This record gives sequence, C-alpha cells and structure tokens, in this order.
Amino acid sequence: MFRRNLPVIGAMLASLAAIGVAALIAWNQLNQASAGISGARTNGEAVIAPGISLGGPFALQNHAGQTVTEADFAGQFMLLHFGFTNCPDVCPTELGNMAAAIDILGDRNPAFAEAVVPIFITIDPARDTQDIVGDYASAFHPRMIGLTGPPEAIDAVAKHYRVYYSQGKPSEDGFYLMNHTSFVYLVGPENEFVSMFHSGTAADDIADALERYVRKTEATS
Ligand code: NI
Repeated sequence: MFRRNLPVIGAMLASLAAIGVAALIAWNQLNQASAGISGARTNGEAVIAPGISLGGPFALQNHAGQTVTEADFAGQFMLLHFGFTNCPDVCPTELGNMAAAIDILGDRNPAFAEAVVPIFITIDPARDTQDIVGDYASAFHPRMIGLTGPPEAIDAVAKHYRVYYSQGKPSEDGFYLMNHTSFVYLVGPENEFVSMFHSGTAADDIADALERYVRKTEATS
C-alpha cells in the first residue's frame, strides 16, 4: 500500500518544494520591488529602480536615551541596517558583515573607517529598549550605534528607506519574530542616499564599496 503510494508522495513533495521555491522567489521579488530595487551588481550593490528616492531625516534614541538625528552624523557616512535583536540569523549576519567591513577598511586606511559610522536601527521597539539595542550593536563593533524610539519614529525612518516589517505570529510563550527587509544602506556626509547592499553581501565587497565612495567624497571636498 505504502509502496504503491510512493510516486504520489514523491509528486506531492515535489510540488510542495516547487511551491516553496516559488514562494521564496515571489517574496524576494516583492521585497526588491517594494524596496525600489531592480537588480544587483556583482559586488552585492543594489540597482535602484528609476524614480525611487531613499533616505531622510530621523529622530531616535541611543543607549543613553539621548535623541540622535541625521544631523549628528553630518560630514560622516552612515552604514545602516534595520532589524531586531531577537533575529535568529539575518541581522547577526548583516551586522557581522558591516562590522568586518569597517575593520577591513580600517586596516587599509584608518581615516576612511573613521568616516563611516555603523548604525543598527530596531524595527521591534516594543522589545528593543535603549539598553538592549545599544548593547546589541556594540557587541558587533565598538563603534556601532544602536537606535530605537517610539513606534511612530521607527515607522517614519523605515518609510524613508522603504524598509518593510511586520510582527510574526507569537508562540504560546509570547515570543515572536519580525519579518523585515534586510538591506544595508550607505548614506553620505550630507544625509544623501549613496548605495545599498543586498542581504548577504560579503564584508570585503562592502569594504571595497565604502573605500570607493569615501575616497570619491574626499577627492571632491
Ligand atoms: Ni533580522
């Protein structure tokens, strides 16, 4: 009986796998389209769709409860990631890559690395308090700043960067995950959007791009 059903089970598994792959592709395309992205360069930098503008002002709180805005980083680059501290894999990977990219850049040119501030902004402000987000960020890199704020402030900055997020279904103990787009953004010295990197871009590739953009700014300023 079971043996006779094997081809059926096989076909079912194959179609389930196909649905899974199709869902993953659809999710990625939706992510990219909603983020204003129309492709990727080989170094992980996203190609932004025409007419899309990204970035903007923000007012959030750091670990000490001080209000931090884009003006605090005038003259520096911001390397930004949005996520949540309970993220099981994507956020730690991205933040690790950002931290490693800063260190790689620092080995090549310490002044260039100093010109880039790595920043983590939570999209889960209900759980990620100032202390939590600050400790989390500085665990990845001593210069990484963790920011949180009231839900409206998080919403506003997420909208500027076309970051989409939603709360997952809580388990019985109330624990939940957040769904979120996970690009890494590079913002220039005048708070202008410079570039963004796809999730999973290698630290070396981010470092190369940082070096190129920082050098370009140094040359023109
Ligand atoms: Ni995440």
